Amino acid sequence: MSTARRLRLPDIAYGGDYNPEQWPEEVWAEDMRLMREAGVTMVSVGIFSWALLEPSEGVYDFTRMDRIMDLLHDHGIAADLATPTAAPPAWFFAAHPEALPVDRDGRRLWPGSRQTFCPSSPAYREAALRIAGAVAARYADHPALAMWHVHNEYGCHNPACYCDTSAAAFRVWLRARYADDLDGLNHAWGTTFWSQWYGDWDQILPPRATAAPPNPTHRLDWRRFCSDALLSLCTAEREVLLRAAPDVPATTNLMVLRTFDALDYWRWAPELDVLSNDHYLMSDDPEAELDIALSGDLMRSLAGGPWFLMEHSTGAVNWQPVNRAKGPGEMRRNALAHVARGADGVAFFQWRAARAGAEQWHSAMLPHAGTDSRIWRDVVGLGADLKALAEVRDSTVDARVAVVWDWDARWALELPSQPSGELRYQDLVRDWYTPLWRAGVAVDFVRPDDPRLDRYALVLVPSLYLVTEAAAAGLARFTARGGTLAVGFHSGMVDENAHVHPGGHPGAFREVLGVVTDELFPLLPGERLGLVGDVPAGATADLWSERIRLAGARSVATYADGPLAGLPAVTRHRHGDGTAWYLATRPDPETLAALLHRIREEARVAPEHPVPEGIEVVRRRGEEAHYLFLIDHGGKGADVAAEGVELLTGTPVAGVVTVPPGGVAVIREPC
Ligand code: GAL
Repeated sequence: MSTARRLRLPDIAYGGDYNPEQWPEEVWAEDMRLMREAGVTMVSVGIFSWALLEPSEGVYDFTRMDRIMDLLHDHGIAADLATPTAAPPAWFFAAHPEALPVDRDGRRLWPGSRQTFCPSSPAYREAALRIAGAVAARYADHPALAMWHVHNEYGCHNPACYCDTSAAAFRVWLRARYADDLDGLNHAWGTTFWSQWYGDWDQILPPRATAAPPNPTHRLDWRRFCSDALLSLCTAEREVLLRAAPDVPATTNLMVLRTFDALDYWRWAPELDVLSNDHYLMSDDPEAELDIALSGDLMRSLAGGPWFLMEHSTGAVNWQPVNRAKGPGEMRRNALAHVARGADGVAFFQWRAARAGAEQWHSAMLPHAGTDSRIWRDVVGLGADLKALAEVRDSTVDARVAVVWDWDARWALELPSQPSGELRYQDLVRDWYTPLWRAGVAVDFVRPDDPRLDRYALVLVPSLYLVTEAAAAGLARFTARGGTLAVGFHSGMVDENAHVHPGGHPGAFREVLGVVTDELFPLLPGERLGLVGDVPAGATADLWSERIRLAGARSVATYADGPLAGLPAVTRHRHGDGTAWYLATRPDPETLAALLHRIREEARVAPEHPVPEGIEVVRRRGEEAHYLFLIDHGGKGADVAAEGVELLTGTPVAGVVTVPPGGVAVIREPC
């Protein structure tokens, strides 16, 4: 929230998606009373109201929304007012069946759900901007309006459409990218391979289902195009809103979480005044708190400071194979963990549990059971907690470690026909993030070409299959000037067109790492090799190996067995005034933790605060105070050295604070 148009609310905002249109008006008064009881300060309204606001084309009915906005204002609750464009009404599809999206196999989808539109459809764009404009004109000056909520989760259900309209839009995008130079495109896509050469722009199609593996660069450019196509819808709506209300900030809820990778949020972030995120736990993730922390750090990095948690859940969701409820205290821990990573607003999907519709089994702040429920009591408790933490707002985390994160590299790594189909970008990053999280080391995420790497002591590159020469040179410069760099396997391999950097791997990082790889040896699922050298006894590795020749680096660990027995698996290289490490395999978690510990110590990066195992620690730094967040995930609680005032209980802390089992403590420390 670092732009001129800021969200100006006192305290940490608290609330959720509010869908009063699903309920008779008698219920609204109870909603207001209970929102106040829970300490709700802001709700998102109108997200799925298009059919009610514009019951037929060009005919508007704002009566209900007027009453909702007035009611909110009368009760001192701010509105995060949405453009309802994520769910076009039935009349729209009846008039524009061509706006329905087509999947990769050529199947056109049907209306009857939400977000079932083609992102490149001119009819959709026109209708979306029209309703956005009508909403903006109606409510720009409404006193309840605090923020615009543009659309809802762009790309959640329609990240790509393969129809002919999309094909034409893709060509326009390609002509711009390649400056109208078809030879340039043919070169970038390597179309001499398998006779894929294009003689005319019109021959280019979306990467629809093919018999044999697709062209990787075609796929990669398609992913870039799909992200940009949705971004252009977002910025077009935002411009409409800005024209009507130049001072009101706009957000759209991103999905920085494990399972979504469709949008390049580095490109989205600068277009938004407030960055907000929707985060849900996956029932099959045994350590979902890690995903909360990782996505929170990534959100803070995208935002360049505090951000807004637009959606998470009080309990179970409805869209996983089995939807796990949260355990005692888990919802509070989750919410406060987001705050610890920089969230200045905490909201849920949804305020009141729906009786009907596809999400009738999704949890809410006010469950079907009503107020005599654990969830309601926890929701009221969280409202009080956030009030107690009001002063934390605007403070941020100060990290000396940067982890490079890149959507281009993620997409490229997961293209078909890789040496191993077992590599998952998010998992590779999380492997490295985990020991830092456990050690309580503050981390930012940066783009590979970040021009200000020098503010960090240590830059980690867990996975960067695709990297431009310029970005690789920036990372090498950071190292030469005295920084510590660590790079994970299969990085630096290809350029922005997914062409292999020639001369041996790891291509763009060869020189800074001081190694040359002449052959890759990915490991089969379940295959595990021993590691020996400067690593813990019994160290092993899996997933990947490669035959390295040292070219200036020295070996830290070698393979104990397998086809590469005796050859280096981990290396260290002095480069200028700095040091560059290469982890050419995936060490087991303990070994990786030991290596990263050593690398971190070498870079002189200390944990934020000494804590026992099981306690997550983060420090937010404000101008007048620091805030030490301690979260117990181990279930045992712990005594932690601290000085100041524990804000959730309002008790002074002199020397030691007790974090209750499964609980949280936040200490205001003098700075
Ligand atoms: C989000 C969406 C909400 C709701 C929620 C359920 O993806 O924005 O509208 O569907 O999921 O978990």
